[in-house]
Amino acid sequence: MIIAIDGPAASGKSTTARLVAKGLDFTYLDTGAMYRAVTFAVIEQAVNLNDKTQLHTLLTGIELELSTRAEQTEIVLNGNDVSEKIRSVKVTGMVSAVSAEPAVRKAMVALQRRIGAKQNCVIEGRDIGTVVFPDAEFKFYIVADYATRAARRQKDLEKQSEHRSLKDLIEDLKIRDIKDSTRTHSPLRQAADAIIIDTSNLTIKEQVTLIVDQVKRRHNKVKK
Ligand code: DC
Repeated sequence: MIIAIDGPAASGKSTTARLVAKGLDFTYLDTGAMYRAVTFAVIEQAVNLNDKTQLHTLLTGIELELSTRAEQTEIVLNGNDVSEKIRSVKVTGMVSAVSAEPAVRKAMVALQRRIGAKQNCVIEGRDIGTVVFPDAEFKFYIVADYATRAARRQKDLEKQSEHRSLKDLIEDLKIRDIKDSTRTHSPLRQAADAIIIDTSNLTIKEQVTLIVDQVKRRHNKVKK
């Protein structure tokens, strides 16, 4: 069974998806971490995105292993643990451009489908319910207002000793939303059959319970 959880950056979807997976004993797949790892490799290998041969070589040589530990996705890129490095400001600044590349999307979607075919998964991203698994049994689209999203992002950054104003962070989020939702390939958008969850005024526990309960309720109905 696939549970697709999509939504914009800092909407609360990662925390929700991870805890829903834990609550249902499903595998959690953070597809943003996959695009971030490719972005890290692009930066490290100084790949020019306009040079399709260079990009193709990078993608064919890439090996990604994902696992979930405590509060974050552990991701190993070609044998090196890059779990922390993929959250850097540099990677965050470039990930929209890298994830807009059709060749990158093609490689990551294929990998996501292979993982999802093998096990029950909660898969989190931007295009899971629309493109990667359009037939997912459950689709949720998580949203929150800009003030809430910026406050969450600020708190996360403070943990990494990075201090940013809410005003700056709201600007960053708006720019990223525009980039993610206006790109030609697999833009961020809500699937027609997705259930919208606005987390602005919900606690983490409330948003997780909302999803877990819907899945359990509908799944029991289907089984009867
Ligand atoms: O969820 P995140 O902020 O870690 O995602 C990083 C970037 O990856 C985001 O700007 C858009 C991109 N992304 C994507 O294009 N498709 C996905 N399924 C997941 C993330």
